[in-house]
Amino acid sequence: MEVLIVPTPDDVAVEAAAMVLAALPAAGPGVLGLATGSSPLGLYRELGRAASSGSLRTAELSGVALDEYVGLPPGHPQSYRATLEREVCDVVGLSRDRLHVPDGSGADLDALTAAAAAYERTIAGLGGVDVQILGIGANGHLGFNEPGSALTSRTRVKRLSDRTREDNARFFAAVDEVPTHCLTQGLGTILSARRLVLVATGESKALAISEALEGPLTASCPGSVLQWHADAVVVVDEEAGSLLKNRSYYDASAAGLPGR
Ligand code: F6R
Repeated sequence: MEVLIVPTPDDVAVEAAAMVLAALPAAGPGVLGLATGSSPLGLYRELGRAASSGSLRTAELSGVALDEYVGLPPGHPQSYRATLEREVCDVVGLSRDRLHVPDGSGADLDALTAAAAAYERTIAGLGGVDVQILGIGANGHLGFNEPGSALTSRTRVKRLSDRTREDNARFFAAVDEVPTHCLTQGLGTILSARRLVLVATGESKALAISEALEGPLTASCPGSVLQWHADAVVVVDEEAGSLLKNRSYYDASAAGLPGR
């Protein structure tokens, strides 16, 4: 695991974008795993710049979402499909036709379970994810894998925790409007990506980052699965990294990274 602690959220965006670009294939189709939320917005802006300057080829790029709410009407502006169309397709230049999002429209558990299995097949059909962009919840969740999620889980229906619904209420008129359930890639699905790049900024993420990186590998902190991945990169600002104990080692290691 590489940990980069940089001064500002803008620095997080620039460094994380370099880590993402380095993991995409130099030629042929690439598959980018996409997170929603506030954390990766600067990173998407940087990827848009890279696309404009020609260092990111979007023509053969596919996008694969981490998760989707269950039960929002098609086209709802807060659905993750609509969100990723606005925040990634329109910014990075990824074709909407090559944006893949789990189908959360199923009316019952059987339909949603079938959609989850279909999503796993979609990812496999693309040849897997080259680089998965991740944020982390204040409760340590990855995707919508809430604390207690199986470390080997695949895409499935999950209930959102009260904490997550409260955190996401800022995107809705009221917390009661935040869906109670979602389809999310499992932790096992996420671990199958060839590289993971997690970004976090701000003091509200400091505890989750310290538990994920320096606590035990445990379902109680889903973000701790990064410790299990052979190519995980974590880019945080000073505030999000403020509780890390091994800071001096991370800084020394980062200084020695090729290209830095
Ligand atoms: C996003 C996702 C979540 C967010 C996390 C952090 O698709 O599944 O895990 O990455 O909740 O959200 P922000 O970045 O808004 O703090």
